[in-house]
Amino acid sequence: MKKTTELYAGKAKSVYNTDHPDYLILSFRNDTSAFDGEKIEQLERKGEVNNKFNHFIMQRLEAAGIPTQLESLFSDTESVVKHLEMIPVECVVRNISAGSLCRRLGIEEGLELTPPTFELFLKNDALHDPMLNESLAVTFGWATEEQLTKMKQLTFQVNDVLRRLFDDAGMLLVDYKLEFGLFKGEITLGDEFSPDGCRLWDKKSREKLDKDRFRQGLGGVVEAYLDVAARLGIDMMGPVGKS
Ligand code: TMP
Ligand code: ASP
Repeated sequence: MKKTTELYAGKAKSVYNTDHPDYLILSFRNDTSAFDGEKIEQLERKGEVNNKFNHFIMQRLEAAGIPTQLESLFSDTESVVKHLEMIPVECVVRNISAGSLCRRLGIEEGLELTPPTFELFLKNDALHDPMLNESLAVTFGWATEEQLTKMKQLTFQVNDVLRRLFDDAGMLLVDYKLEFGLFKGEITLGDEFSPDGCRLWDKKSREKLDKDRFRQGLGGVVEAYLDVAARLGIDMMGPVGKS
């Protein structure tokens, strides 16, 4: 597989075309963004850590029967992925109250949410990712009803797999955001799963181990991501062979 021209540059990742029309290269940069791009800093090694973290998680999800875009690692900071037609709707599941849920509804942080909640947001930084519902998404053509049903089902399936995975490693999966796209007509998990797009707390101390460390200026961001990776047994040092 050969990397060719840049197709798109996001806040933390860039996407490149390859010599195969069905595949792209996802390049994880050190850029770390919060508040819809208002705060951006470069954190050393973050790209590599998230690339390898994402690869590990997507493999687990694929093994559980969830279709993902991930094909293989390409380099320390890059992965080969399927070329999806992205759906601009973000799916968020919350197991414990935090973040915008607390701000919007005046809920205190740290409450167990039973059953876990499911929310939709429009992927649009200029509008600060406004909350959506199924009716709005369908009317404005961002997704069909069938696609939304599948996205919701897969998002909860991810919760079953990852809640247990993190729990076994001494962590709480507080919440996370997923993005989906279409690959040859099939709803497929895209984007990434890393501590940039979820909240993870230590089970005992409830110490934050995710991007809230960056958002809240707590420091030790990449160190926390590496701690999470080590607890999961992810190899951050191994060489990556070009595929
Ligand atoms: P929120 O509390 O800000 O709504 O975010 C919920 C979870 O989803 C949290 O883990 C962060 C993640 N998320 C993103 O990574 N990017 C986004 O654009 C949004 C809306 C949420
Ligand atoms: N949407 C991501 C976050 O919640 C990145 C950003 O906002 O810039 O932090």
